Amino acid sequence: MVAPTMQDEIIDLNKEYTLFPWGAQAPVNPIPVTHAEGIYFYDANGKRYIDFNSQLMNVNIGHGNKHVIEAIKRQADQLQFVYPGMATDPRGKLGEKLQQIAPGTLKKTFFSLSGTEANENAFKIARQYTGRQKVLARYRSFHGQGFAAQQAGGDPRRIPNEPGVGWVVHFQDPYRYRCMFCKGLDACNLMCADHIEQTVIFEGPETIAAIILEGYSGSSGIIAPPDPAYWTKVQQICDKYGILLIVDEVMSGFGRTGKWFGVDNYPDVRPDIMTMAKGLTSGYLPLAATMVSEKIAQHFEQTPLMIGGTYAAHPMSCAAGLATIEVYEQEGLIENSAKMGEVLSKGLHELAAEHPSIGEVRGTALFHVIELVKNRETRAPMSEFNKPLTEAMKQVQAHLLSKGLYTFVRWNMVFAVPPLIINEAQLQEALSILNDALSLADKFVE
Ligand SMILES: Cc1ncc(COP(=O)(O)O)c(C=O)c1O
Repeated sequence: MVAPTMQDEIIDLNKEYTLFPWGAQAPVNPIPVTHAEGIYFYDANGKRYIDFNSQLMNVNIGHGNKHVIEAIKRQADQLQFVYPGMATDPRGKLGEKLQQIAPGTLKKTFFSLSGTEANENAFKIARQYTGRQKVLARYRSFHGQGFAAQQAGGDPRRIPNEPGVGWVVHFQDPYRYRCMFCKGLDACNLMCADHIEQTVIFEGPETIAAIILEGYSGSSGIIAPPDPAYWTKVQQICDKYGILLIVDEVMSGFGRTGKWFGVDNYPDVRPDIMTMAKGLTSGYLPLAATMVSEKIAQHFEQTPLMIGGTYAAHPMSCAAGLATIEVYEQEGLIENSAKMGEVLSKGLHELAAEHPSIGEVRGTALFHVIELVKNRETRAPMSEFNKPLTEAMKQVQAHLLSKGLYTFVRWNMVFAVPPLIINEAQLQEALSILNDALSLADKFVE
């Protein structure tokens, strides 16, 4: 009998005694990761993987950053925990730092532990502040897995857990490649934004507390509006009807789009509430944030703010957040994201010229996706929305993993979202592995 390896033992224990997210358990085939450094992680056999997805699009500063690790150790030595009614040094300093880098009049932050909580708190704040109930959101969006956050994200992961809350209404997306409003036209006609106003009117503006949008669309397929005037229109709709604008920067924040926040790509926009997580600590410890404008903060000076949680503003997480932001600044990672994004974009467009299976390359900076199609004319997706992966996509995914490139393969999309520390040679290596995988997809083009 062959002795079980460390790899087998890790997988066996994980599968025997723990549950994995978002799917049936038997087919789960997890990579047993033992360590990670820079843009790479390693399995128990020592196999190296390029982390082309920054894990869950969150390890923006890369793995093993000593500055953050030391800050966490120092905080652990000094003070591990106090309840959130007490004041701590890292909490105040992180709040001040976020005020400095956030857009518009965003001023005060409520800290929690996950993007989900950050959005649930945003909804509670918006509802308490406006006295209105409803939240409007895009179909192709994800805002977390709580009953309200999951319902706000139109992403089909909500469906098995429905009914969620009854006060979310969805509207159509600014999805130029597959848009029902501007299909066949030379350019986006912004009817997607007019449709939001129509939805507001039909729903009753006086019932709507907030519209929530990802600062730059993420796991639904990096589906950003082709015309930035979309955001200007959304801002105008919010202003006209007294609706708050919640911008979800959980995935698009902290340099992902070559700017601090995705919404910084749209200077006309003034978020009333902005949520963050993921890149805030790059996953070194869990932390999320719900930031509110000065006006909303002022409202709660005398009116009770009815949100909370044992681990709100956890001192160790706040110390990790502060150190992570120092890394973005000291290592010039926001700038590197923009610069390396150009290399990535050029490389992906070159692949599109070679591979008929690529229907569209989308994204900005180190936040890209390619959409694979069976036919460029009909745009028939290589794998259907919310259906199991087809043989073609399975082959692409298996090839990438076998060659040591880990990234998200979702429906007909392959994501390219590496840590912001990546350099040109590393990008070229990843693109070359992708090139080979796409040759497999090309065979399924009809
Ligand atoms: C845009 C966006 N919002 C919220 C969330 C939820 O964050 P968390 O998984 O930390 O709850 C995610 C997670 O992927 C996200 O992409």
